Amino acid sequence: MKILGIEHIGIAVDDIKNDSIFWKEIMKIDYCSTEEIEGQGVLTDIYDTGKGKIELLEATGLKSPISKFLRNHGPGVHHICFEVENIEEAIKELKEKKIELINEEATTGAEGYKIIFIHPRSTGGVLVELAEK
Ligand code: CO
Repeated sequence: MKILGIEHIGIAVDDIKNDSIFWKEIMKIDYCSTEEIEGQGVLTDIYDTGKGKIELLEATGLKSPISKFLRNHGPGVHHICFEVENIEEAIKELKEKKIELINEEATTGAEGYKIIFIHPRSTGGVLVELAEK
């Protein structure tokens, strides 16, 4: 698989409205968009440093994976996303190498990217997202 760079860092927060102030007003990172990812129970605010983005993640329901993460870990870094050249190729390679994926197939994530998540059990403890633009 070919990694093109770090696309974004996903951060789980309790309240986007309140917790985005640091990123917006103190760090002054450019705001890109706010999106609700259907089916995942996630509301996201995206900021672009110019070399990698910050994705704030708020749960929209108790069944949301973000809600579960917040209960277990509290707010903080949730995942790291790498941009890949070809996600289907990457998934095939990961499956061949018995790497544990969260989903069987690529789904549509924020900004319309094709994404897949790799289980922290296979990465040494970090939830890894791969995305193809
Ligand atoms: Co992400």
